[in-house]
Amino acid sequence: MNAPGKQADGVSVGPPLWLLAELTYRCPLQCPYCSNPLDFSSADQELTTEQWVDVLRQGRTMGAAQLGFSGGEPLVRQDLSELISEARHLGYYSNLITSGLGLNADKVEAFAEAGLDHIQVSFQASDPELNNAVAGSRKAFDQKLAMARAVKEAGYPMVLNFVIHRHNIHQMNDIIALCDKLGADYVELATCQYYGWAFKNREGLMPSRAQLEKAEAEVNAYRARLLDAGSAMKLIFVTPDYYEERPKACMNGWGSLFLTVAPDGTALPCHSARILPIDFPNVTEMSMKDIWYNSPGFNHYRGDSWMPEPCRSCDEKGKDFGGCRCQAYMLTGNADNADPVCGKSPHHDRILSARRAADHATAGIEELTFRNAENSRLFFRS
Ligand code: FES
Repeated sequence: MNAPGKQADGVSVGPPLWLLAELTYRCPLQCPYCSNPLDFSSADQELTTEQWVDVLRQGRTMGAAQLGFSGGEPLVRQDLSELISEARHLGYYSNLITSGLGLNADKVEAFAEAGLDHIQVSFQASDPELNNAVAGSRKAFDQKLAMARAVKEAGYPMVLNFVIHRHNIHQMNDIIALCDKLGADYVELATCQYYGWAFKNREGLMPSRAQLEKAEAEVNAYRARLLDAGSAMKLIFVTPDYYEERPKACMNGWGSLFLTVAPDGTALPCHSARILPIDFPNVTEMSMKDIWYNSPGFNHYRGDSWMPEPCRSCDEKGKDFGGCRCQAYMLTGNADNADPVCGKSPHHDRILSARRAADHATAGIEELTFRNAENSRLFFRS
């Protein structure tokens, strides 16, 4: 067995500093850009409380310091307080990523007492009609507003996340104004990343370059006004890599920092990797240490010996690691390929044609495929 810090072919491997606990795929919302796998309904097993506690303990022993609780909607797990408390006891900095559905002021208090460090509430739009249409829930918006306020009242910074796509990108000023009115501290305006359900719905979600440039200018102008007004609210605008010419260093490199544990215990180097034709280990069958340092799944794309051209001879390979393996797989059918976002990729035309499609897309929200168990079962069967 390899010692921590070294891997078989000599590539140096540090500890997984970031542990993402995807507690469940259950969720009361149906967002058509959800990053969960399309066939989530076929993976309905969930680790028990004891198994999650063991995951947290092993992760911390290995050096993980940041812990995210996500899903699905993590609030549907009745043992969330217990897991938060264990995370605090172990010394993690913990973050709850939630839709706010299923939350109430008492729970926010209980989580604070249990030692949760950070709560991020996601929104779909700046008004109830659009928000609820995208979320596939009639009561989502009011609940989110109430929970954003409850989070702040409990002494947390108010951290709001909006996933931006072609159906809400025109609302940028209204979204920021809403956040300002709520007294948000941090606002993440994250344009959709095309994984999971978002990839399935890409044509109906992807903004055109013109939409994106307008939105970015609006964010910059609003940011300047906030600064002039002495507001401390921070705006983080995340652009989609589909409009870049060089790929992102996805996950900071495969198996370098991030370890995701899916609801059924499957350990993944990123939340999307279970789509890849790679056999990933399960925490119920192997120790996390063995998974991280020795499993073929985690070692698959470490280092650069796996890289074909043009990545192999590229002088940027140490910076971007050839981009995203999941994106390469989704767009070319082979995860070894350079991420087609890269202008040097022989498959870059796939990105260019997606951009062209975004210029002419007409699909309404009702034409998107919503993330729910019924649609998931259809994918699973097909
Ligand atoms: Fe899986 Fe990028 S999302 S490697």
